[in-house]
Amino acid sequence: MDDSTVFTEKTTDSVSKIFNVDEVRADFPILSRMVKEKPLVYLDNAATTQKPQAVIDSIVHYYTYENANIHRGLHFLSELATESYENARLKVKEFINAMSASEIVFVRGATEAINLVASSLCRANYFGDGDEIILTEMEHHANIVPWQLLCERKNLKIRVIPIDDNGDLDMDTFKSMVNEKTKLVSVVHISNSLGTINPVKEIINYSHEHDIPVLLDGSQSTPHIKVDVQELDCDYFVFSGHKVFAPTGIGVLYGKTFRLDDLPPYQGGGDMIRKVTFEETTFNDLPHKFEAGTPNIEGGIALGTAIDYLSQFDREVLSNYEDKLLKYATAKLSEIDGLKIIGTAKEKASVVSFIIEGIHPYDIGTLLDTYGIAIRTGHHCTQPIMQRYKLPATARASFTFYNTLEEVDRLVEGLLRVKKMFS
Ligand code: ALA
Repeated sequence: MDDSTVFTEKTTDSVSKIFNVDEVRADFPILSRMVKEKPLVYLDNAATTQKPQAVIDSIVHYYTYENANIHRGLHFLSELATESYENARLKVKEFINAMSASEIVFVRGATEAINLVASSLCRANYFGDGDEIILTEMEHHANIVPWQLLCERKNLKIRVIPIDDNGDLDMDTFKSMVNEKTKLVSVVHISNSLGTINPVKEIINYSHEHDIPVLLDGSQSTPHIKVDVQELDCDYFVFSGHKVFAPTGIGVLYGKTFRLDDLPPYQGGGDMIRKVTFEETTFNDLPHKFEAGTPNIEGGIALGTAIDYLSQFDREVLSNYEDKLLKYATAKLSEIDGLKIIGTAKEKASVVSFIIEGIHPYDIGTLLDTYGIAIRTGHHCTQPIMQRYKLPATARASFTFYNTLEEVDRLVEGLLRVKKMFS
């Protein structure tokens, strides 16, 4: 298959780097390694993405030249580390187009960000007896369990927007669910299991007409599309660094200033305080109020580097290329006898979940692994989706811009071999 270079044309003053998949692959050292004596085909990007050399180098650079605690010391290294960390926050602000860097809270990942919002809303007594939170049937466990834990402490009700067989949200049911008891809508922007790109703008507009704040889980949208939180007008937005080519253990909670101002701190400790006595403590300004203790400094800095890496390219060109991979994979996989794709929404990102008649997804994953092909099998931390489709698990191939059409061909070849072994 021709995997031709995609050129970018930019009308703005900033000129993006031309996207060439071979050059991009050379930026990610792990992609050239062998697995089980075969060249690695890494199709598990929805679980975590690989890291470009620049990101790996930034961690080494930090520990080689800058390591010190931040916001605490007046010495040279502490100031340097603080500057690098706060620069990274500015890069995140630009990345999602927040109004201010103080709206960017560094956390461990999307999971911690949602737990922070849930826990702090609870402590703020935001929810009253019988209030309702609306989620979707395609939420990751990270956007279900924190709210369930809250329900144990308050008498709250979780309501769930159903999906149709294709994996599209039933928006009429959503609208009929909204009532005076609805206090929060918390939805996934792009589904990690189905690939569905949800109509979040419509959800946000409708919720705001009823004065209901909206939290978006952007774990799968930030790697695939340009996110603009001001244009979306969401109240909270969360994502994990490791899914956007940065290390694990760093992530982001964005909140509109007035929303974050209204939340009490999540954890207590150093850095989040202004004054402490044994009688009383006053808290630091945003975002530090939510960042107790020494943070993941090198992770924050490396997230900034990952954003720099992504920002060299026109994001639309990357999205279009991923769309080409998705369409090609969908067409090729659909030709395999007995294979059924789970998740065929109108708007999809480059995630393909599937089952093959008579073969357990775990067998598919295990055998593909022997050919050097990494996919994910299981429930993908979305057990309610498996219940919705009455499946124990699916196999999932998830693509990003460093994948190639040839790798899709390798996946198809691998699946045909798996089928042959089971026939
Ligand atoms: N939530 C991650 C996935 O989709 C781990 O695989």
